[in-house]
Amino acid sequence: MGLFSNVSSSDDIDITKIKLPEHLGIIMDGNGRWAKKRGLPRTAGHKAGATTFRKISRYCSNIGIKYLTLYAFSTENWNRPQEEVNTLMRYFREYLQEALRDFRDDTIILRFIGDISAFPEDIQELMKENQELSSVRNGMVLNLAMNYGGRAEMVYAMKQIGESILKGELQPSEINEQLISDHLYTANQPDPDLIIRPSGEHRTSNFLLWQSAYSEYYIDDVLWPDYTEKDLNRALLEYSKRNRRFGGV
Ligand code: IPE
Ligand code: IPE
Ligand code: MG
Repeated sequence: MGLFSNVSSSDDIDITKIKLPEHLGIIMDGNGRWAKKRGLPRTAGHKAGATTFRKISRYCSNIGIKYLTLYAFSTENWNRPQEEVNTLMRYFREYLQEALRDFRDDTIILRFIGDISAFPEDIQELMKENQELSSVRNGMVLNLAMNYGGRAEMVYAMKQIGESILKGELQPSEINEQLISDHLYTANQPDPDLIIRPSGEHRTSNFLLWQSAYSEYYIDDVLWPDYTEKDLNRALLEYSKRNRRFGGV
C-alpha cells in the first residue's frame, strides 16, 4: 500500500497489522543528556532533537496516526538559562517558517496547545498562520504543546467556565467532566491512548494531566535525539497487546 511505503522494512514489526493508538502523545525528552554524553552544549541536543521531531511526526502521519501530541516546551521550561530558551525559540521559528514555506501540499493539520501569548510576536504570528493554513487539510492532527502545562490548562478552562457562569449562560450544577474537557486546549479531540516518554524518566512533567486519566504509558531509555521509527514501532506493538480496562473487568 502506498500509504505505508515509508514503513521501515528493516523492522520485523508489521505496523500495518497492529491496532494503533488513535491519539499518541510523546514527551520529547533527553536532548540535554544526549549532548552532555558527547561533550556538546545542551543546545546541540535541541538541534538533534528537532531533526528527530521532523522524522517522527512525518512517520506518524505516514502510518495513519490520527492525533499526535508532542510536548515541545513546558510552562516550567522558561526557568532554563536564557541562552537555552533563546536557542529553542530559534528552532521553533525555523520549523514554523519551514512548515509555511515547504509544506504547502501537506496533509498534516497543525495546532498549538498552550498559552502562546508568552512567545515572541513573530512566533505567535507564525503559529497562527500555520494553524490557519493547515486547518483545511484532512490528515493527522499534530498538536504541538508549547508553553503547555496540564495545570495551566485547567486554570484556563476554569476561568472560561467562571466567565460563563458570571454571564448567566451556565449554572454551576451543569459543570460535568464533558464540559471541562470541552474547555481544554484539546477540545473535540479524543484522549491520548498512549503516551511515550523517551530518556527513561518516570513522570508526567505536567503533560496532559486531565486527558491522560486512562492513557497507557510507555517509558523508553532511548534519548529523544536517538529515537527512531523502530523504537516507536516497539512501543506501538507493546501498546497493541495491552489490556485496557478503564476500571472495568
Ligand atoms: C527535552 O529535552 C527538550 C525540552 C524540554 C525543551 P531536555 O532539554 O529536557 O533534555 P534533558 O532532560 O535535560 O536531557
Ligand atoms: C518535559 O521535560 C517537557 C518537555 C519535554 C517539553 P522536562 O525535561 O522539562 O521535564 P523534567 O524537568 O525532567 O520533569
Ligand atoms: Mg528533560
